[in-house]
Amino acid sequence: MISCYMKKMIEPPFNYTGSKFKMLEQIIPLFDPTCSRFVDVFAGGGSVYANVVDHYPAVVANDIIYHLIDVQRRLVSDPAATIAMTQSLCVTKEDQPGYHRLRDDFNAQPTPEKLWALMCCCTNNMMRFNRSWKFNQTFGRRTFNERTLAKATAFAAHLMPHLPKLTFQSLDFEKVNVQSGDMLYVDPPYSNTEAGYNAYWNKNDDVRLFNWLCQVHDKGAKFAVSGVTIHAGVRCRLLDLLAETGFVGVPLQGDYNKVSRSGPKEDTQEVLMLSYVPETFKPVSIKMPAPQQNIEPTALVALDMALA
Ligand SMILES: C[S@@+](CC[C@H](N)C(=O)[O-])C[C@H]1O[C@@H](n2cnc3c(N)ncnc32)[C@H](O)[C@@H]1O
Repeated sequence: MISCYMKKMIEPPFNYTGSKFKMLEQIIPLFDPTCSRFVDVFAGGGSVYANVVDHYPAVVANDIIYHLIDVQRRLVSDPAATIAMTQSLCVTKEDQPGYHRLRDDFNAQPTPEKLWALMCCCTNNMMRFNRSWKFNQTFGRRTFNERTLAKATAFAAHLMPHLPKLTFQSLDFEKVNVQSGDMLYVDPPYSNTEAGYNAYWNKNDDVRLFNWLCQVHDKGAKFAVSGVTIHAGVRCRLLDLLAETGFVGVPLQGDYNKVSRSGPKEDTQEVLMLSYVPETFKPVSIKMPAPQQNIEPTALVALDMALA
């Protein structure tokens, strides 16, 4: 088990919508620590891979937003220059026209630092794109501050020693190269919720991702998938398909309600669906024979499992 006990988690400097930072103590101990490579398929602001980087021989950070991944790569490779460039691009809390110029400039000639500056200055620090990949979030009367600087410096200092084993890449998940023995963390846009990056994710993508997960499972990779089973009465197609196939879901104390634009939803249930049985589980009431090695996931749903 990867222990989070007494460990200070590294918080990325991006204030990313859907960040799993506040759920890391629940999620990380459920990963398989024996895998040879960790692949964060939907890395977003980087909170997950950054906090398991010292536990795996190789780590891949992937996200479809090229400049989001590139700013992480640059921040870790050359923190001083990346921070200085981003600070110089940020506008003051009063400068709305300057923010609009920065946004137009990014949409015409995007760079990783311009994206980070927009994230620092926009509404609720929530990056938002339209379907044509144009940044369209409004001005948030905020800017790069001391807290951002402290987080950015700590993030870079933590990851820099691991650079030789880190791969930063920007690919659609279907193009991610998966090997037997990989541990995949899969945190896609939740199709039954809203977020700024959901503009280019739909229910067909849930089915596409499900099919891809079945393929990577057959290849011998393990996966852990985050999602909310139900939100405001809407079920998640991806999680339903995984459950119907027999994969095991672990209920988590969710953080989703805090970022939902439509406010808290009592029926929201955050889960982690696993393609394997984590070490931290023990059967509490066995209704079937005890699990064997390499047991099929379908057999596990009938077991009443609990966190150790
Ligand atoms: C819920 S967020 C991930 C948050 C991340 N785990 C964190 O802690 O910051 C989902 C991410 O999926 C990315 N994404 C959307 N479509 C994708 C695709 N087809 N392939 C890879 N990444 C994609 C989005 O850009 C977004 O960053």
